[in-house]
Amino acid sequence: MNNLDIATSIAAAHTNVPGGLLPALHGIQDALGHVPSDVVPAVAEQFNLSRAEVHGVVSYYHHFRSTPAGRLLVQVCSAEACKAMGADALLEHAKKHLGCDVHGTSADGQYSLEPVFCLGLCASSPAIAVNDEVHARITPALFDDIVEEARQAS
Ligand code: FES
Repeated sequence: MNNLDIATSIAAAHTNVPGGLLPALHGIQDALGHVPSDVVPAVAEQFNLSRAEVHGVVSYYHHFRSTPAGRLLVQVCSAEACKAMGADALLEHAKKHLGCDVHGTSADGQYSLEPVFCLGLCASSPAIAVNDEVHARITPALFDDIVEEARQAS
């Protein structure tokens, strides 16, 4: 099955669900790693929406990507408990270390950086997740070690 077939099939499974567009887009991103712009017309047709409406939803929510993520998705918690423990400075460090901005991907395609709003480790903040594996009490040096370890393992 190609991307278009996969996206169409996922969208079709959600057309009778109230508010089905968002879960359909989540399903497409889970399956394809992003929501390619060339599947938007097919998704729009399934939901009897315009392409602009579907594109608007994809671009409104930072969670959705129109392009593939880097090999490592690094998320830095930016919710209150982590902010109180230095998450803003950690995010700045992450941007420099990874070579990309928030919601961006490094030029070599290695890393994508996203903020996340609570990883459930508030008592051990600041926290990060690397490809969904969570880590607590992160210092800049620990951040570098974790990212390097994940890079070598991937
Ligand atoms: S606020 Fe960061 S893990 Fe909860």
